Amino acid sequence: MEFKNIKLELNEGVSLIAIDRPKSLNALNLETLKEIDQALEEVKENEEVKVVIITGAGEKAFVAGADISEMKDMNPLKAKEFAEFGQKVFRKIELMKKPVIAAVNGYALGGGCELAMACDIRIASHNAKFGQPEVGLGIIPGFGGTQRLPRIVGVSKAKELIYTGDMIDAEEALRIGLVSKVVEQEKLLEEAYNIAKKIMSKGMIAVRLAKEAINIGINADIETGMSYEAKAFAVCFATEDQKEGMAAFLEKRAPKFVDK
Ligand code: CAA
Repeated sequence: MEFKNIKLELNEGVSLIAIDRPKSLNALNLETLKEIDQALEEVKENEEVKVVIITGAGEKAFVAGADISEMKDMNPLKAKEFAEFGQKVFRKIELMKKPVIAAVNGYALGGGCELAMACDIRIASHNAKFGQPEVGLGIIPGFGGTQRLPRIVGVSKAKELIYTGDMIDAEEALRIGLVSKVVEQEKLLEEAYNIAKKIMSKGMIAVRLAKEAINIGINADIETGMSYEAKAFAVCFATEDQKEGMAAFLEKRAPKFVDK
């Protein structure tokens, strides 16, 4: 499908989705959210795609938030629909059976920070800036920010960031665990691809099951999480990859995984 507000590329098993609305710092209007949704469907169905990277086009912004000019005149009903749609699209990222890496290359504010938080792994360039500035507009985060930020950085820091609307830089984001790595902007995509390649060299069924176990456990009590982990662990032993992975270790050679 042709896209107007995003770019979608496939390079050696890695799908790159770049949000591309430079005039509004890649802000998410409804049309862009629909295109992201469509792109996610395409990468989900495409068996060639093993890992997904999401970034912002240009050097200034990842995504500067939901589109304020579009939200300005929304009534409560439309606002609810908008929030629910954004939440649904971002939840699709979280539930996708393929790892998704956010390469945050600039402003990740409001819906942009929320988009990054829905991804499995977040890396950032030195110039990246994060924040949930919604209260400064008289609204609250609507694409999952009140739910994911406290799960990622803890309740106290999340409340501070959401109540003050403060922006933090990449180093601070690293310190509080909002991102896991900070690199030079020119190296950001290269680093994201390196992480993707490293993941793809492993047993991808195992990676998928680990994602599911972490996602289930983070939102459940520990017994439920442990029980899911034990079942997923058992499922690994029904795969060719488990046999190959362990045989390769014992034979002191590199494994050849077949994703079966
Ligand atoms: N929506 C619509 N347009 C936006 C935008 C947004 N979120 N962010 C930036 N833009 C537009 C600006 O209006 C401006 O357009 P014009 O050139 O037509 O005037 C253009 O992008 C460039 O922006 P600035 O001139 O403001 O650039 P700057 O370098 O001075 O500032 C910035 C950069 C600090 C990111 C600033 O643009 C900013 O504060 N943006 C808004 C950030 C924000 O509040 N995001 C949260 C939105 S609400 C939300 O996301 C709700 C939710 O949870 C779902």
